[in-house]
Amino acid sequence: MAAVFLVGCARLGQSEAGTGEQPAGATQLQAPSYTVMCDEGADSAIVCSVDHDTYTGWGQYTKYCAGCHGSSAFGTERGPDLTQSLDTNIDYFDIHFVIMRGRHSPEGDMPSWEGEAEVVNQIDQIYRYLKARADAVLPPGVPNRTKQ
Ligand code: HEC
Repeated sequence: MAAVFLVGCARLGQSEAGTGEQPAGATQLQAPSYTVMCDEGADSAIVCSVDHDTYTGWGQYTKYCAGCHGSSAFGTERGPDLTQSLDTNIDYFDIHFVIMRGRHSPEGDMPSWEGEAEVVNQIDQIYRYLKARADAVLPPGVPNRTKQ
């Protein structure tokens, strides 16, 4: 069966790129990339293999974030669609900031995860998963297998 092989490559945020400073929790200056391999025409992640970090990110996202942002990150009434956010206004650096600080607005509260080591230590992995979703490289659903 034919397979589509894609490696994501995100660009640096404009404003932060100039300072050379990393936000708390960021482990690298460049946004980490994901590797996703799906059967052709896949409309569910069940036929996709992802790299280990992206798979871990999916697991952490599911545990800590999906309750508000939805199981495939399309959003719910409790939290916005993150596939839109990462496609438009939220980059690798912003996501660290929002996760660490939280955010409060009339639309709802995004909790701070500063005290939750499992989240803080795996923001890069969560980013990989969400970026693959936002780039529409990884379809909705549970990734089936991990690529070695
Ligand atoms: C209790 C519900 C809740 C949980 C759990 C939650 N969020 Fe949120 N999140 C929100 C809400 C509500 C907003 C919108 C806040 C606002 O309007 O500024 C938001 C905003 C965000 C944004 C900014 C989106 C944008 O376009 O500006 C990101 C990124 C984000 N959340 C990521 C996460 C991640 C990653 C997790 C898991 C570690 C998570 N959230 C867990 C409710 C939640």
